[in-house]
Amino acid sequence: MTDTSIKPRRVRFSWEETPLHWVPGDPFTTHLINVLHMLLPAGERWFVHVFKQALPYIQDPRLKAEVKGFMGQEGTHAVAHQRVLEHMREQGLDPGPYVENIEWIFERMLGDDTMPPIARTYWLKERVALIAAIEHYTAVLGQWILDARPLDDAGADAVMMDLLRWHGAEEVEHRSVAFDLFMHLDGSYARRTRTMMVTGPMIVLLLKRGAGFLMANDPILRGRLRAKWTHYFYRAHQGRVPTLRSLALAVPRYLRPGFHPSQEGDLRQALDYIAISPAHAEFLSLTSETYRRSQ
Ligand SMILES: [Fe+2]
Ligand SMILES: [Fe+2]
Repeated sequence: MTDTSIKPRRVRFSWEETPLHWVPGDPFTTHLINVLHMLLPAGERWFVHVFKQALPYIQDPRLKAEVKGFMGQEGTHAVAHQRVLEHMREQGLDPGPYVENIEWIFERMLGDDTMPPIARTYWLKERVALIAAIEHYTAVLGQWILDARPLDDAGADAVMMDLLRWHGAEEVEHRSVAFDLFMHLDGSYARRTRTMMVTGPMIVLLLKRGAGFLMANDPILRGRLRAKWTHYFYRAHQGRVPTLRSLALAVPRYLRPGFHPSQEGDLRQALDYIAISPAHAEFLSLTSETYRRSQ
C-alpha cells in the first residue's frame, strides 16, 4: 500500500464554555468567522462526494492515496463544524435558513444532475477544478488563522481558536491534493482561470451574506447592530479578519504559470500546531483512558 502522510485525525471539542460572542465584545468578527461553520459542512461533504467519483480515473497510486486521505480529513472537518452549528442553535441562534441555501448550492446547483449524463466527465472536471480553486482559499485562510495573533490578543475563545487552527493546519497540510488531482485529470489553464474567477467573488459574497444573516438573527444583538463594510475594514485593519487585499492577491498567485500549492503556506508551522492541538491531544488521552479501563 502506498503510504501518505495525509490522514484524518480524530479530535474532540468541548463547546459548553464557548460564549455566543466568542471574540469578546466583537460580534462582527465572531459572526464573519462563524459563516465558515455554515459553509463548510455542506461544502466539505460535497468535496468528498465529487472526489469519490474521481477516484476511478486516478492512475497514480500515490495521488489516489492522498485523495483518500484528503476525503477523510474533509469528512472530519464537516462533522466538527456541524457541532458548532448545534451549539449556536442551543444558544438561540438558528443558522437553519442560511444553511439550507448553502446546501442547495452544493447539493443541487453543483450536484450530479445539473448537467445531462452525456456531460458527466466534463462536469466532473469542472467540479474538481472548482474544488482546487476553493482549496487555494482554504489554504490561504488556514495559514492566516495559524498566524492570527490579534484574535488571541482580543481574548478569542480557546476552543474555537483550536478548531479553526486544527482545521487551518490540515488545510495547509493537504493544500496540494485537489490541485494535483485537477492537473492529473485535466489541467486546462482556461478551466483553472474560469473556476478561480467564480470562486473568489463567490467566497466574498457568501461571507458577506452569512455575516449579515447571523448579525440580524443574533439573540443578544436583537437587530440593534447590522453587519457593515465599515466593521469589516476596521476589524481587518486590526488583523482580526483577513484583508480584502490579501484575498484578492491570492488570485493572481493561483493563475501564475508554474504555480503549485506547495509554494503556499508553512507546512512545518501547520504540523507543529497539530502536534500541540488540545482537541487532538484530548481525543488521544480519551482513547488511551478508555483503553486502560478496558484492560
Ligand atoms: Fe477542510
Ligand atoms: Fe481542504
